[in-house]
Amino acid sequence: MTLDLERNPRRGDLLEVEIEGVDTDGCGLGSLDVRVGPQRAPRRLRVEVRGGLPGDRLRVDVGSCKQGVVVGRIDALLTPSPQRITPRCVHLTEEVHPCGGCALQALGYEDQLALKHGLVTRALSRAQIDPASIPPVLPSPRPWAYRNKMEFSFGRDGAGRLALGLHPVGRRWDILRQRACHLVSDPAVIVSQAVQDAAEALALPPFRPQDGSGWLRTLTWREGLRTGERLVELTTSHEAPTPDPLGTAQALLQAALDAADAAGAPLTSAVWTQHRAVRGERTTLISQVLHGPGVYHEVLHLPGGHALRFEVHPRAFFQPNPLGAEVLYREVLQATGLLEAPASRVLDLYCGTGTIGLCMAPFAAEIVGVELQPDAVEGANRNARANAITHAEFIAGDVGATLEGPLGARVRGADVAVLDPPRSGLHPKALQHIHAIQPRRLVYVSCNPEALGRDLVELRRLGYHPAAIQPVDMFPQTAHVETVVTLTPPAP
Ligand SMILES: C[S@@+](CC[C@H](N)C(=O)[O-])C[C@H]1O[C@@H](n2cnc3c(N)ncnc32)[C@H](O)[C@@H]1O
Repeated sequence: MTLDLERNPRRGDLLEVEIEGVDTDGCGLGSLDVRVGPQRAPRRLRVEVRGGLPGDRLRVDVGSCKQGVVVGRIDALLTPSPQRITPRCVHLTEEVHPCGGCALQALGYEDQLALKHGLVTRALSRAQIDPASIPPVLPSPRPWAYRNKMEFSFGRDGAGRLALGLHPVGRRWDILRQRACHLVSDPAVIVSQAVQDAAEALALPPFRPQDGSGWLRTLTWREGLRTGERLVELTTSHEAPTPDPLGTAQALLQAALDAADAAGAPLTSAVWTQHRAVRGERTTLISQVLHGPGVYHEVLHLPGGHALRFEVHPRAFFQPNPLGAEVLYREVLQATGLLEAPASRVLDLYCGTGTIGLCMAPFAAEIVGVELQPDAVEGANRNARANAITHAEFIAGDVGATLEGPLGARVRGADVAVLDPPRSGLHPKALQHIHAIQPRRLVYVSCNPEALGRDLVELRRLGYHPAAIQPVDMFPQTAHVETVVTLTPPAP
């Protein structure tokens, strides 16, 4: 049906639209055929609505319309998708401005997996990948409470009360007073509520990003799902509103320790970090461990009875869903072929803290990792030492530039190169240098099907053949999906 409009849609207009799909950020997508203005010029508008699900008929409150893209929010659910279920979280069912964390909670888990399969097949169709060759998405072992980390922010809720929680969708200055979050274990929320109450009792001001005033910034919960170790980090600004900032931070973290004890989930570490930002100087983070060792540990189980132990520092990256990471790494190991035939040299490109490289360690004589962030490389080398792995080397640098240098010659003809690039995918230069070292097998681990589709087109052009594809769900309730692709190289 084509809609006649006097002018292009504007903020505050109401439009009716059917949602046809969801993008890789979890935003519902629809389209509207319109004829605009006195000339009735025909146009197709793309409509993006957060919370919209395929099959919904919605009345959309338009926020903006630019270059043929209408972005809006749900004003009314006129006809709900037959797949809709009641979300579990009160912050989706009871808030005027719902939590922005879980775009797909109104779908059952099986339907979420089917939707993610559709996202992957659609994105890879541009690389001529037959949808029938893509198996179903492997589920996360836990669809709920799978996250080992949650960063709650201090701020004010819509009514101006001190709040410690997550942001409502589209309202970057507001914070929810968190009553639940089903992506982490319950004690995470119990602890955050206790700290929120203690901060409110002391009338402490939350940090205001708008003008840099206030003191309380974030409370981060981190947990080893296999070790039961738990760490809480309180981050404040450096300029304290109290004469005794250490005593005040101790009081807040004591509230966290007491609440965790009462919930039967004692904290093993509590850390206070001051964020020091002075104009003209580099921002620094000054941490003080106020309880326990100031780190937590996690264990990942690997095929063949192997296991790796990781020491995680308060701000170090670690895979947010460790049980899901075990599934992903099992698939990566299978894709490398290392489980059948150990290799002499393997590469872990875009290695982060080295988890993939270290997973390959029992099956290869030498592992070389490359990663841009020096902190992550330090973590990777520390993780290698902690696991008595002496045949892994992690190097700080840009993948393309590093392979263009002496390392490229050294690792030429490596048995396997695993690539786990950021969401933007492979830089053309990096791809060129990866191709130049002539790996005998490529394994591409992608967190963005769109970027993967683009890169597979390029890889095909260079002669790499996608031999196997396996999507894996690491982030239930969201639209994110990982994909592992095995590529065989061009014949020499
Ligand atoms: C998806 S993460 C990989 C995570 C890693 N496999 C792990 O388990 O820790 C992508 C990584 O690529 C790194 N990165 C981004 N651009 C890069 C570049 N040009 N060269 C090297 N590493 C880069 C990022 O810092 C990030 O750690």
